[in-house]
Amino acid sequence: MTILIRRIIGLCSAAIFLVVVFRQFSPELLEPDHRFPLANDKSSARLKQPVKWKDIPIRHPVTSIVPLPTGKPTTIPRIQHRFGVETDHNKQKRLERQQAVKEAFQHSWKGYKEHAWLQDEIAPVSGGFKNGFGQRAATLVDNLDTLIIMGLDDELKEALAALKEIDFTTSMETTLNVFETTIRYLGGLLGAYDLSETKHSILLEKATELGDMLYAAFDTPNRMPITRWNWVNAAAGGAQEALSGSLSAELGSLTLEFTRLSQLTGDDKYFDAVERISGHLLKHQNKTRIAGLFPIRVNPLQEVFNDDRSFTFGGMSDSLYEYLPKQWLLLGGLVPKYRQMYETAIDVAKQHLFFRPMNPENQDLLVAGSLSTSLSGNVKLIPEGQHLACFAGGMVGMGAQIFNRSEDLRVARQLVNGCIWAYDSMPSGIMPEIYRLVPCPTYQCRWDEGVWKSAAQFDAGMGRDQTPDEIIKDDRLPPAFTQLIDPRFLLRPEAIESVFILYRITGDHELLEAAWRMFDAIRTATKTEFAYSSIADVTAPKGLPTKKLDSCESFWMSETLKYFYLIFSEPHVVSLDEYVLNTEAHPLRRPQVENSWF
Ligand SMILES: *[C@@H]1O[C@H](CO)[C@@H](O)[C@H](O)[C@H]1NC(C)=O
Ligand SMILES: *[C@@H]1O[C@H](CO)[C@@H](O)[C@H](O)[C@H]1NC(C)=O
Repeated sequence: MTILIRRIIGLCSAAIFLVVVFRQFSPELLEPDHRFPLANDKSSARLKQPVKWKDIPIRHPVTSIVPLPTGKPTTIPRIQHRFGVETDHNKQKRLERQQAVKEAFQHSWKGYKEHAWLQDEIAPVSGGFKNGFGQRAATLVDNLDTLIIMGLDDELKEALAALKEIDFTTSMETTLNVFETTIRYLGGLLGAYDLSETKHSILLEKATELGDMLYAAFDTPNRMPITRWNWVNAAAGGAQEALSGSLSAELGSLTLEFTRLSQLTGDDKYFDAVERISGHLLKHQNKTRIAGLFPIRVNPLQEVFNDDRSFTFGGMSDSLYEYLPKQWLLLGGLVPKYRQMYETAIDVAKQHLFFRPMNPENQDLLVAGSLSTSLSGNVKLIPEGQHLACFAGGMVGMGAQIFNRSEDLRVARQLVNGCIWAYDSMPSGIMPEIYRLVPCPTYQCRWDEGVWKSAAQFDAGMGRDQTPDEIIKDDRLPPAFTQLIDPRFLLRPEAIESVFILYRITGDHELLEAAWRMFDAIRTATKTEFAYSSIADVTAPKGLPTKKLDSCESFWMSETLKYFYLIFSEPHVVSLDEYVLNTEAHPLRRPQVENSWF
């Protein structure tokens, strides 16, 4: 097939994909479907009194609880490189960089403290605040462990005191996003608990309080959780059932936090709740339209997992895959299905999902794209890159280490290089949220400017009456990029996350240099008076003013700055052989072979 035909097909499937994505983002579709009467829905959410979730009768009790595995954890191969002694020169450079990251954190924290304390987020341009996560101090809870890692003891003390006043049994949002609440809040509390030397009991108390609230979202006839959950209805004893449409990542990325809560409290019910989801994933993995991969949208109500034809490691499915090897680690290698599911998925991803982009330097890169299947079942590559999909390099690297898949280490490096290259390619030095490239028709391919230019014209669409050169100039497309579908940068962590993990695995200094270039570009483009802000367009040349979007999600400090800080820290700080990080970068303690469970 010629490249052009491939591209036409690619474009059609991209259009279908975008429609699908759009629909999936559209809020009405994600609202719970109110087919049966809800109990007395109070639309202004927060009830005056805390809810005693433990005392609300369970409507759909389980007949038996799946317990945590017992026994001695298996010996898991080492993840981290054996780092040698550091030279004075390297140490000094590293510490200067670490200090620069810490200053960026302190600037952000100061803005949060002075302008948004106990709110979910700071609005970094206007100096106001935002509450998208139920107004329970998302940024504070998300950053307790960052404060510990950076040694900011006074700030930690103050944050822990404030934590006592936060009610985790209710939310200002009537419809609670179970996934976001789990990864940010529950993960934040557990990560801080696991990392702190003085185990502050308040952290585990609050985690349990929140865990008991979230557990009620699983109280449905088939025990599948309601991923966008009307908790007010549940608190009032209303009927519940799972949704007919959930994003696979929202269903598949609850295991780590619930498992750790069971390990720490000794109560198996949280583990049991998520283990049931994993059972469904295992059962359906080889029956989807691309056997081995999970589609973006699944139906937990009818337990249908093979309807949707869109697949990606990017947004809406990403952390489902990330959690497979991580859950295997957290369970000390004692539950084989997580390894099996990971290895099955990654083999298919290597075959279909990862593609080599044609690039002017003829670098050996891989990008995790997206896939769709036609009605006749053909698999089609959508040659796009997403910032969210950049986590894949780190995951594949970790999988290579722990599962003895040494050939995957090269794949991991190619994926990480693909993300570094996307950063370096942009005028601002920061990669965009979503973009399109020209996939190599075969694994090897040389740069061909003509092919790139006609692809750029093609991607621009029929309506643009311009020459390829005009399109490239107007859209500020760097060579190799055929379209910037979303040119924003949202302060996201996935690229530095993978650079960090690969650095801890390989000890390669090139990765430290790449990390520093990324950090320097990001701080230059995003700094505001009150913190750091998402920006509208990464094609703005470095050093010139950027259009700021007045948004600073809690993951800026809890993930992006944490990973930058950790890569410039000594390798034993949050060692990957001692901790497994959830998808919000909260370190959960892995069982150690020598001292059994905890
Ligand atoms: C799915 O298929 C893969 C590859 O053939 C196989 O290794 C794996 O065991 C299968 N999984 C299940 C649950 O049957
Ligand atoms: C990895 O390989 C080593 C040596 O062959 C073996 O001892 C170990 O059990 C393997 N580990 C895993 C997790 O497969």
